[in-house]
Amino acid sequence: MGRPASEGASMDLDSYDLLSTAVLLLDEAGCVQHGNTAAQELFSVSRRQLLGQPVDRLFGGDAELAARLPDAIHGKFGVLRQDLSVERRGDMVPVSLAIVPLQKQEWAALLEVRVLEHHVLLDRHRQLSKELATQRESLRNLAHEVKNPLGGIRGAAQLLEAELGTDALHEYTQVIIAEADRLAGLVDRLIAPQGATLKKTRFNIHEICERVHTLARAEFPRITFIRDYDASAPELVGDKERLMQAFLNMVRNAAQALDESGSTASAQITLRTRIGRQLLLASRQAKLAIVMSVIDNGPGVPAALHDKIFHPLVTGRASGTGLGLSLAQEFVQQHGGIVEFDSVPGRTEFKMVLPLEQT
Ligand SMILES: Nc1ncnc2c1ncn2[C@@H]1O[C@H](COP(=O)(O)OP(=O)(O)OP(=O)(O)O)[C@@H](O)[C@H]1O
Ligand SMILES: [Mg+2]
Repeated sequence: MGRPASEGASMDLDSYDLLSTAVLLLDEAGCVQHGNTAAQELFSVSRRQLLGQPVDRLFGGDAELAARLPDAIHGKFGVLRQDLSVERRGDMVPVSLAIVPLQKQEWAALLEVRVLEHHVLLDRHRQLSKELATQRESLRNLAHEVKNPLGGIRGAAQLLEAELGTDALHEYTQVIIAEADRLAGLVDRLIAPQGATLKKTRFNIHEICERVHTLARAEFPRITFIRDYDASAPELVGDKERLMQAFLNMVRNAAQALDESGSTASAQITLRTRIGRQLLLASRQAKLAIVMSVIDNGPGVPAALHDKIFHPLVTGRASGTGLGLSLAQEFVQQHGGIVEFDSVPGRTEFKMVLPLEQT
């Protein structure tokens, strides 16, 4: 004879309380049935207040979590992992959560929330920038190898064209020349940012925003651009050209995503600047940083690209080369900063975080 469910349950629940990680037990509908002591501390609420709450509400109603929750509870993802932020005493704390489906048990699923300590996040950022740097280097080596023979191919096609009698054959040499030029353009973009020496000047970041705004408005007249600047932002020392290119790449992506979505809703891009304090960068924390954001109301970054969007040659567009964000990340990292994004359908934000005291 088995034990009554309630007895087994109370034993399980007590042992959850001994854990230092926050654990929530959920019902079929994704509502909290139990939260251990660590969970009460993390969310600064009593056990009673946790009970019956839709769990996504504890994470500020995160849309991505809410959308994936039913499938996660039914085990469609195996164990679903997602990184999020929770508000703890007025601060946003990065956390990593895992939803474990508990099929055929008293609760539908278990949700574990781990606070990502800064060193864990820093390690992740460092690892990512190392991977990107290695990838970029091998691509650059490849590009150098391609560049010289490409010049030879183009030159030979030109000579051949001069020798050809009939116009009908010119069509072929023209294809060779045009394709060689297209490849050369790609190769040049791959090689371009190699010079690590920055042309540093002191300037106001809004000069960049305004210039990019003018360019983007001319290129994408159907999109509404909103400027939301923090006028108190202090001047920055850096390579203005490169930072402008990085910002322009982000704005172009947003505009292209809007253009290609074909949605009837009014396409809108906000250029926003803010001062940020205690922000996490690639390899350290910045006391004071300037955050330049591009926010669009387009369809969002395709989920399949989320993890590799900053890698070179990764693109979701038929006509894209996949270099825009890789370059933007490289240029911003040369300034000790980082490019990050947050994306759900209807709201995508790409931001460059630039520290004000640079190493
Ligand atoms: N704001 C955005 N909304 C939706 N998807 C985006 C957005 N920004 C970037 N992406 C996705 O990220 C991909 C990579 O962007 P990236 O700028 O690196 O390359 P690309 O735009 O495809 O090509 P390139 O910039 O070299 O012309 C894009 O193809 C697109 O799928
Ligand atoms: Mg791009």
